[in-house]
Amino acid sequence: MTQDELKQAVAREAVKYVVEDAVIGVGSGSTADFFIDELAKVKNRIAGAVASSEKTAARLKGYGIPVQNLNSVNELPVYIDGADEITEHLAMIKGGGGALTREKIVAAVARKFVCIADESKLVPVLGEFPLPVEVIPMARGYVARQMVALGGTPKLREGFTTDNGNIIIDVWGLKILNPVEIEARINNIAGVVTNGLFAQRGADVLLLGTKSGVRKIGK
Ligand code: 5RP
Repeated sequence: MTQDELKQAVAREAVKYVVEDAVIGVGSGSTADFFIDELAKVKNRIAGAVASSEKTAARLKGYGIPVQNLNSVNELPVYIDGADEITEHLAMIKGGGGALTREKIVAAVARKFVCIADESKLVPVLGEFPLPVEVIPMARGYVARQMVALGGTPKLREGFTTDNGNIIIDVWGLKILNPVEIEARINNIAGVVTNGLFAQRGADVLLLGTKSGVRKIGK
């Protein structure tokens, strides 16, 4: 099976978590895109969706799925999104696509976070994938120096602006043994909007696409 076939398999499985007549939170990236393709097939069963990026909103609208503003939604029973890395404890690195801040907001509101990923994303320790940090542009140099002090190698994501008008600094070489602590520490730096560690609010369920089928971790 190819990586895309594994992503499609978890996207199909994730449809089982869609709550009848509810608004559903939808993430960003190629795995989330496969999920949107599946969601479109059952769109009459949902009230609409909240999107974690402009790109996702456009794809949902393209299928005629109503996209709601998060502020007009009282309840979000489930949020479905991919990850760049995830551990067995369901802590993640996200933000490879640069949508980390909106993803973190939607994940915070949702009662259940269902992560969908192919098996290449499961890691024993987070940090091989560079950690994305969304930064207010004037704080670029300061935040980069703070990342060096943390033991990382910061690199500006060239030519990229987030949906919120900010920059992304990707931080290489962090071996993240305590993701909850590192997440809070980086978020505490002036100028950081948020970082791509999803540990404080990790996933509740991981649907992992493997060659022998979809493996479920969590509940
Ligand atoms: C975007 C994300 C994505 O979920 C993450 O990058 C995984 O993407 P893909 O499904 O394409 O591998 O966090 O900001």
